[in-house]
Formats: sequence, C-alpha cells, structure tokens
Amino acid sequence: MEPILTQDGTPTLFHPRYGEAYHPRQGALLQARRLYLEKTLTHLHPAPRVLEVGLGLLVNFRVTLESTLGRGVYLRYLAVEREPLPREVLARVRLPLPRAEEVFAEILKGWPNACFLGPWGELRILFGEVEALELPQDWATAVYLDPFSPRVNPGPWSLPVLKGLHRALRRGGRLATYSAQGVFRRALKEAGFALHRVPGVGKREWTVGIALKPPPG
Ligand SMILES: C[S@@+](CC[C@H](N)C(=O)[O-])C[C@H]1O[C@@H](n2cnc3c(N)ncnc32)[C@H](O)[C@@H]1O
Repeated sequence: MEPILTQDGTPTLFHPRYGEAYHPRQGALLQARRLYLEKTLTHLHPAPRVLEVGLGLLVNFRVTLESTLGRGVYLRYLAVEREPLPREVLARVRLPLPRAEEVFAEILKGWPNACFLGPWGELRILFGEVEALELPQDWATAVYLDPFSPRVNPGPWSLPVLKGLHRALRRGGRLATYSAQGVFRRALKEAGFALHRVPGVGKREWTVGIALKPPPG
C-alpha cells in the first residue's frame, strides 16, 4: 500500500477490497480536525475520552493528540480496529503535527501493542470487529465513527452497534461521522441520539449525534 496525497497535502491510502480511500480527497487532516475533533467539541474538552471505530492510519488520533498536547490536557483514547496496518506502512504516513509525531514515532516502536501510555495520555486498542466487541459503558465524551462507508461496510453502521456506542457515551457526549446516509441516520435516532445535520467540507452534510440519556439519580 503506497500513500496517496489528499488535497490538503496530507497522505491517505486506498483499500482495494472496499474500493475506498481511508480519507476523503479534500483532506485527511482537514476531515480529522474539522469533523472529528471539532464537531465532537473534543478540542475544548478538559478531560477528553475518545472512542474511535476505525483507527486506520491514526490521523484522527494524532490530530486529537496535537490538540490535547497544545492545551496541556491528558488524552484517553480507545480505538477499535479489525485490520491493523503494518508498521512499515504507518511509518510512511507522516503528518505536519510536530508534537503528535514525536509520540507517534514512539508508538510505532511498539506497534501493534494493545496499550500505549505516556505523559501525553493513553491509547488503548481493541483489535477485532466492533460488532463483536464489548465496549465500556458511560465512558466516552466523544465517538469518532470512521469505518468505511455504509454502502460497502454496513456492519459498523448497524443499529446494534449504534446502541453499543450510545451506551459507551456519557450523557450529552457526541458522535461525529462523515456519513449522511438515510438508513444510518434513522438507526442513529433509534439508538437514542439527537440527530444534527451539520455542513460538511467537500461534502454537503456530515452527521453529529448527541447521546440522550436520563439524568442520573
Ligand atoms: C476510513 S478508515 C479509518 C481512518 C482513521 N480513522 C484515521 O484517522 O486514519 C476505516 C478503518 O476502519 C476499520 N474497520 C472497518 N470496519 C470495521 C469493523 N467492523 N470493526 C473494526 N474496525 C473496522 C478498517 O480496518 C479501517 O482501518
């Protein structure tokens, strides 16, 4: 797998089996920042706990880490990944994020471990299919839903998975994703999210779901 450049100058890969790239052509970094980091308000959170479906090239992870390092905030990041990429492929995907890249270089040395810890925070990885894994409950402040599209990879967008992601979020936590597909959006509502259609970049709409839950007590 050879990296290809997206329009913001950052690299992605093409997955032949799904027939899709890991990121949109408008920009890997751009989507990570404007959609996943900012639409979940993780860039403002004092103690973020991110749950990601699809760790991929760790672009979303590194963009989030650059934000928390810049703010002096400890990051907790739990990712689900069923097809971890080989170290030598990841090593070719560098990003213009100086602080996060230093941590990424350390992570590569131990790749693919299930847990990485440092003064910057922690990255834990559940290797397997999100459909089959047990996720924590009332844990996450944000969910980054970033598997391949529902058209080619429907499993992670299904109602049972979305219900699991809802359970994993704290009350008011936000799920962000690039997909605006109708079937997925209806399932998101059924799973207990308030649905928000937000303007996308290079795409008419993205989707944000806010986890509705009864108040404690
Ligand atoms: C679009 S890429 C993710 C890009 C990534 N978020 C990043 O920042 O570089 C999709 C990833 O989701 C993973 N994936 C797809 N379906 C999955 C599933 N059912 N369970 C777990 N991981 C899945 C793929 O292996 C792939 O690495």
